[in-house]
Amino acid sequence: MTMRVYVLASVSVVVFVLVAAARPAAQFPPKFTNLQVFPKDVAPADLVNTMKGFTRALGVRCEHCHVGEGNDLTKFDFAADTKPTKLVARKMLTMTTTLNAALKDMGEPSKDPKITCFTCHRGAVKPLTTAGGGTVNQNLER
Ligand code: HEC
Ligand code: HEC
Repeated sequence: MTMRVYVLASVSVVVFVLVAAARPAAQFPPKFTNLQVFPKDVAPADLVNTMKGFTRALGVRCEHCHVGEGNDLTKFDFAADTKPTKLVARKMLTMTTTLNAALKDMGEPSKDPKITCFTCHRGAVKPLTTAGGGTVNQNLER
C-alpha cells in the first residue's frame, strides 16, 4: 500500500515535470526586442496568452506570422518582421483597438463591448463576408 502511494507520487512528479517542459511559456524568449504595439514591459504571461489567442482566432500556428518551424520555439525568431502576416497582424491590432473605442463611444449594446480577433476571424485566416461563405460579388450576381 505504502509502495503504491510512493509509485503514484513519483509518476505525478514526472508527469508534472514533462508538462512544465512542454509549455511554450518555458521556451519563450526572456526579453522582447521588437514590440511596437504592445507596451515594452508587457508581462510575458500576458503576451503568451495573447499570442495563443491569435492562433486560435485565426486557426493557425505561430509560424503563420513568425520565422520558424515545428514545436521547438527556441528555434524561432519572434522579433523578426520578415513575414507580411506579422505586419498585417500589427495593423489588425490597432484596428481592433480603434473599433473597441468606437463601440464604446456608441454606448451600445452593453457597457463593456469587446471586439476581438475572433469576432471577425472565427478560426479562419480570411473572415467570411456573407452567410454561407460566398463573397459579396457572388451574391450580387445571383
Ligand atoms: C496572427 C499573427 C501572429 C501569430 C499567429 C503569432 N504572433 Fe507573436 N507576434 C505577432 C505580432 C504582430 C507581434 C508584435 C507585436 C508588437 O509589435 O507589439 C508578435 C510578437 C511576438 C513576440 C515578441 C517578439 C519580440 O521580441 O518583440 C513573441 C515572443 C511572440 N510574438 C510569440 C508568439 C508565439 C509563441 C506564437 C504562437 C503561440 C505567436 N507569437 C503567434 C503576431 C503573431
Ligand atoms: C473587423 C473585422 C476584423 C478584426 C476584428 C480582425 N480582423 Fe484580421 N482580417 C480581417 C479581414 C476582412 C481580413 C482580410 C482577409 C482577406 O484577405 O480576405 C483580415 C486579414 C488578417 C490577416 C492576413 C490574413 C493572412 O493572409 O494571413 C491577419 C494576419 C489578421 N487579419 C490578423 C488579425 C488579428 C491578429 C486580429 C486581432 C488583433 C484581427 N486580425 C482582427 C478582419 C478582421
